[in-house]
Amino acid sequence: MSNTDPELNKIYYPSKEVIKKATVKDYDSLYKKSIENREEFWATEAKRLDWFKKWDKVLDDSDKPFYKWFTGGQINIIYNALDRHQKNATRNKLAIIWEGEPGDVRTFSYHGLNREVVKFSNVLRAMGAKKGEVITIYMPQVPELVIAMLACAKIGAVHSVVYGGYSVEALAERIEDAKSRILITADGGFRRGKATKLKTIADEAMKRSATIEVCITVKRTGEECYMENDRDFWYHDLMGMPLANTNCCTEKTNAEDPLFILYTSGTTGKPKGLVHTHGGYSVYTATTHRYVFDIKAEDRWWCAADPGWITGHSYIVYAPLINGATIMMYEGAPNHPYPNRWWSIIEKYGINILYTSPTAIRGLMRFGSSWADRHDLSSLRLLGSVGEPINPEAWKWYYEVIGKSRCPIMDTWWQTETGGFMITPIPTMPLKPGSATKPFFGNEMAIVDDHGVEVKAGEEGNLVIKNPWPGMARTILGDPDRYVEKYWEKYAKQGWYLAGDSARKDEDGYYWIIGRIDDVIKVSGYRLGSAEIESALVSHPMVTEAAAVALPDDLRGNIIHCTVTLRNGATGSPALAEELKTHVEKEIGPIARPAFVEFTEALPKTRSGKIMRRVIKARILGQDIGDISGLEE
Ligand code: PRX
Repeated sequence: MSNTDPELNKIYYPSKEVIKKATVKDYDSLYKKSIENREEFWATEAKRLDWFKKWDKVLDDSDKPFYKWFTGGQINIIYNALDRHQKNATRNKLAIIWEGEPGDVRTFSYHGLNREVVKFSNVLRAMGAKKGEVITIYMPQVPELVIAMLACAKIGAVHSVVYGGYSVEALAERIEDAKSRILITADGGFRRGKATKLKTIADEAMKRSATIEVCITVKRTGEECYMENDRDFWYHDLMGMPLANTNCCTEKTNAEDPLFILYTSGTTGKPKGLVHTHGGYSVYTATTHRYVFDIKAEDRWWCAADPGWITGHSYIVYAPLINGATIMMYEGAPNHPYPNRWWSIIEKYGINILYTSPTAIRGLMRFGSSWADRHDLSSLRLLGSVGEPINPEAWKWYYEVIGKSRCPIMDTWWQTETGGFMITPIPTMPLKPGSATKPFFGNEMAIVDDHGVEVKAGEEGNLVIKNPWPGMARTILGDPDRYVEKYWEKYAKQGWYLAGDSARKDEDGYYWIIGRIDDVIKVSGYRLGSAEIESALVSHPMVTEAAAVALPDDLRGNIIHCTVTLRNGATGSPALAEELKTHVEKEIGPIARPAFVEFTEALPKTRSGKIMRRVIKARILGQDIGDISGLEE
């Protein structure tokens, strides 16, 4: 929008070939239709899925903001993702192509995947798993992670996947909040040539949270694990028993029954468990995936995220399976053993669509174009980006070097809370590098000031969503008040959803996301809370208080800077700073490792005792500190 290089302000129009292949040629007319009769639009899309029982009402808004979708309907996402494909040719198609970091390959047809899921559903039932209970999954990126998720959903249990890069405290907190009785994990996974030790972290977490009675471990790395009698079971042992038979019915869940909980960081230290449902989520993810990535039966789709995040839930696992696509999964690091790993995967498997994050693109861009140039990337048809704003330089590199100026980039803006894409192009739309373009069908957005007045084109303001949509999170597990307060209170009068991002809308109606307005920090596209990092720091015996802020970074979008005060008499040192960084890593995970830790005598606070992170950040960046009238002496 405000680039000095005119090349980066260019508008990129779709080629004739893209338009010819596109399902939706004209965004404007379908958008208009979807807004004029939102419920009819969603009912039409819902009819593409198989329902055990049709809904009575598309949208029930009798208890705002606790919207319900397709009430009275019965559906199970697994029936749509697996069961129905067994009845036609999709049964023989590849559902998953998986490549491990060491180079081992496993493939599953829709038939084969279904078989594994049925067997594991029976294992879970034999372990006493009940409809509605929350099962925690903590795994590396192996096919069993997907099998475990699907098996939970099949029997009507609710999965809570904790990203495999998280560590002890993060896992323990999530197990405890969900009161999980069953944990599914693995001995470890491979990352940058090394075996991670997931089971060791899980053992520590189980010591801190006492709810787990059964722990099922997948053997991946072969590293030795501690196995406790009557609690720990090997996945392969259970799957080899007669109880893991191939008869298992898919549970008839209601449209509004919970499908999964996914924890995400917010402004307080405690992560929020967002609740998504079988009905609305199935409809929303499948529809967005079909229109935005124009999924065709012959497509090989690669969402290079981790299934442990919402991107993976919606667009590695559920939407592609519902749409009958072939899913590519890769276990390890993009540059292992060399920076051409991803490009060689695209060539080897003939991938048609790549969907990834700006951080990954910037990371690979740093190694130069020659790594990509030595591979045949001509199978690619579309590209995608998610998780953080993409800078126009990275957009251009992705477009030219990877997409050979043929493949439109779908820059999709959305959140854990939204379940699926909210602001996104479709392939036929003219693109402006760095803009996520326009709202997806059925959605109306606005950029408003603190009073809810729409700001002028080009001005920055709060991004709000003006309507309910089927993929929206229904609540925060065990804390509906927090759900209302966090998302719906600020614009309660208007009934708008507060996204927590600041953004601009230009004269053409294109949206430009700027960043978070709260204390959420986006590092490499991962979402972390300042308060989470601070509470990890104060759990160290030397620290009394801490403040974590985000500083801009060319590669990772943001990095974490921490300012801490120490217990009486202690003095800071470079060695202690390193120790504190490692402590945060041990408690939350490597993604939360601070880039800087500095020591101070006192933190700036308001008179009511709140740490003024804004003041700390402005000082570090050498910016105007702004209004500090609220600052304590
Ligand atoms: O700040 C926005 C940023 O990621 C936040 C949501 O994070 P999370 O719940 O972890 O979900 C990430 C994957 C969907 C948003 O509030 N964000 C996400 N996509 C984009 C983005 N910022 C700019 N452009 C995007 N395409």
